Amino acid sequence: MTFKVGLLGLGTVGTGTAQILLDATQRHPLLKELEIHRVGVRSLDKSREIDLPADLLTTDLESIVTDPNIDIVVEVMGGLEPARSLILQAIAHGKHVVTANKAAIARYGAEIFTAANEAGVYVLLEAAVGGGIPVIQPLKQSLGANRIDTVIGIINGTTNYILTRMQNEGADFAEVLADAQRLGYAEADPTADVDGLDAADKIAILASLAFGGRIKLAEVHCEGIRQVSAADIAYAERLGFVIKLLAIAKRNTVSTENAPEQLQIRVHPTLVPKSHPLASVNDVYNAILVEGDPIGQVMFFGRGAGAGPTASAVVSDILNIAAMLQANLVPVSTQPTQAAHPLLACSH
Ligand code: HSE
Repeated sequence: MTFKVGLLGLGTVGTGTAQILLDATQRHPLLKELEIHRVGVRSLDKSREIDLPADLLTTDLESIVTDPNIDIVVEVMGGLEPARSLILQAIAHGKHVVTANKAAIARYGAEIFTAANEAGVYVLLEAAVGGGIPVIQPLKQSLGANRIDTVIGIINGTTNYILTRMQNEGADFAEVLADAQRLGYAEADPTADVDGLDAADKIAILASLAFGGRIKLAEVHCEGIRQVSAADIAYAERLGFVIKLLAIAKRNTVSTENAPEQLQIRVHPTLVPKSHPLASVNDVYNAILVEGDPIGQVMFFGRGAGAGPTASAVVSDILNIAAMLQANLVPVSTQPTQAAHPLLACSH
């Protein structure tokens, strides 16, 4: 059974994804059943790192999401529009969707998942948080027996790379940012990385999975690393700390009838004791520490950005969908809630 894939975007992640799909040495048996059918790009003239047959490429992105031959649409173009509209159109045409788009999911996740549930299609997003680290699926499924109380993560590779090099080499912020862009870690507009917005999108998604319901981005306190100076890092070092951009989501009270439970969700530079497991997460690596009952602490660690790791997560989602389709497992249509998360609603 062959599954036809329509790729929207051939940038860093799109190229990495196509490379895995075309790599005959990859061993997962289902990879042989995946076929790149069309690839949507902004321009046909651009020189590319990957050699794809010219007739696969098109600038008509709508023709991909409406193509009756395509089973799975992979959105790796990023940005809000036209990504959101294309995802919704794909769903409306009965396509299963894989996306790496944290910004679109953090803002339009409720709309997208409502549409997907109604259409009976899968929308998977492992690559949206933590690059190559499997964390979405574990939060959705493997930790399902737990009450999750805390999720603390280093979930932006670019800022972790910058802070690590500032710490280790006393490197200059602008120079290191340029390196992060060159290495394919940073967003097209690196403001999203540096100002903590990318991490805010990601923690909103993780919190929504950990605590259930929908998290509004406006409820996430967000502060980036622009104000962190070499002197701050040196002082922290002398006192036994490192500075990390942490994304934190936690329940901050135990609920009683009169004092309902609340959530705190925030992103900001934080003094982390050198003995803490997150202190030694350096360079482009991400880590997500989850605390739940009865499991206790679990930490997920790996490369959080870049073509290969992110494409690994994208392809794992494609394979999951292919496996479910092969087993004839299609989602049952349900009606999820559109309401804001009740815990957040209580706190404002
Ligand atoms: N710009 C993001 C980061 C890419 O640096 O983490 C992965 O989401």
